[in-house]
Amino acid sequence: MTEPAHGDTHIRMLISQERIAQRTEELAREVREGLGDGPITCIGVLKGSFIFMADFVRALGGPVRCEFLGVSSYHGGTRSTGVVRITEDLRHPIEGQHCLLIEDIVDTGLTLDYLTHFLAQRKPASIQTVALLDKPAHREVEICASHVGFTIPDEFVVGYGLDLGELYRNLPFIGVYSP
Ligand code: PRP
Repeated sequence: MTEPAHGDTHIRMLISQERIAQRTEELAREVREGLGDGPITCIGVLKGSFIFMADFVRALGGPVRCEFLGVSSYHGGTRSTGVVRITEDLRHPIEGQHCLLIEDIVDTGLTLDYLTHFLAQRKPASIQTVALLDKPAHREVEICASHVGFTIPDEFVVGYGLDLGELYRNLPFIGVYSP
């Protein structure tokens, strides 16, 4: 679709609400098949993953723990600064648990790389990663999420948790922002 979405002429639809919902179900099935029926500790990376995580954990079903990590790396602009900073730590230990790190997007890969090493130090039974979006164009570390929803082109995306200057996170779809 190319027409303006939600009345904002700077945003065009890239991935619809329906496609996101369908892919989220598929990813959840994939993860459950891999990890079985036991407890999974889902760790959402704030803020961007909060909407995807809410839908994903419901699709996942079975025993699920929800944890969050506060991380900041973009600081309001449209390009990564490359600096990863933990702003809020996990509330509970994850030792011996099957963990799933949940990201809205992997761009340079610096955040995912940093966080997987960070979590590994807490001695979980396993760590997998799921990213709704993968934007490989600006990768700085060779890393890919274990489960990827959509691989997207080199465009600035907003909506479904992703922001521009803290706005647009509440759009129900993924859109491309062009000023
Ligand atoms: C975004 C996104 C990822 C990270 C990915 O977070 O949610 O956590 O950037 O980028 P990278 O692969 O280049 O490291 P951001 O810092 O924008 O914060 P937010 O989630 O609070 O919007």
